[in-house]
Amino acid sequence: VTTGDRRVPTWAGRATAVPVLGGDDVQLWLVELDVDEAEHAQLRELLSAGERDRADAYRFPVHRHRYAVGRARLRQLLAAYLDEDPARLELADGPTGKPELAWPTGSGLRLNLAHCEGLALCAVARREVGVDLELVDRRRFRWSPVAARFFHAEEQRVLGRATGPEGWVAFLRVWTLKEACLKAAGVGLVADPRSFSVAEVLEGGTSVVTVAGRRWRCEELRPAPGTVAALATEL
Ligand SMILES: CC(C)(COP(=O)(O)OP(=O)(O)OC[C@H]1O[C@@H](n2cnc3c(N)ncnc32)[C@H](O)[C@@H]1OP(=O)(O)O)[C@@H](O)C(=O)NCCC(=O)NCCS
Repeated sequence: VTTGDRRVPTWAGRATAVPVLGGDDVQLWLVELDVDEAEHAQLRELLSAGERDRADAYRFPVHRHRYAVGRARLRQLLAAYLDEDPARLELADGPTGKPELAWPTGSGLRLNLAHCEGLALCAVARREVGVDLELVDRRRFRWSPVAARFFHAEEQRVLGRATGPEGWVAFLRVWTLKEACLKAAGVGLVADPRSFSVAEVLEGGTSVVTVAGRRWRCEELRPAPGTVAALATEL
């Protein structure tokens, strides 16, 4: 999927060719993380020793597998853009903990990943990006204390109008938009989530927010039925 200068992203279907990434493009890939054992074993071969250790540290096999498949697919995607071997790429955590491509150097590729249960969303671009993804049917919790703690007053005002199941979806929409912005900036200690508002995006369209002293274009995505997702792109 290419957003480029189009305001509304389009979901273009299964990739069949080596992707070409224009300077202003953000390409988004929806990845299924639940694969059979044979495919998991093959994908795990692509991981670094550190990634394998990290996968093994998960207590439950389902989480081990999903982490491994997510990282392996991310490697395959980046390798396709670079015409490289996925296992040779080096992914490292940047200064704020945000994963970045450490080798090959100088490619200019930026990435971000989000996962929720068996689905992941990867973004690849030539500028900083952040994505977040939630499933509407995930385990629900009492969201109003969370909103009170993390959301801007304007966002809380918009949420105050939504009740019942609509309130939950509205909460997830704000949450994913804010997480995408924070993840684009690198999370860490970069910003107080209450210092910026994405409320405008909920009224439709795209919005520009300032997080960690940088400007981000922030928009909602609808990658699949039952999902809520968001993208933040550096301006
Ligand atoms: C790091 C954080 C973004 C992970 O979020 P999560 O919901 O557990 O998981 P997601 O699926 O969204 O993202 C996980 C992926 O984000 C990426 N990621 C990890 N640290 C990151 C960082 N510092 N910056 C950007 N991306 C990061 C990784 O690729 C990770 O997947 P991987 O470990 O399989 O490679 C989250 O724990 C966090 O700190 N969020 C900000 C806290 C906050 O103030 N939230 C309030 C929002 S209103």
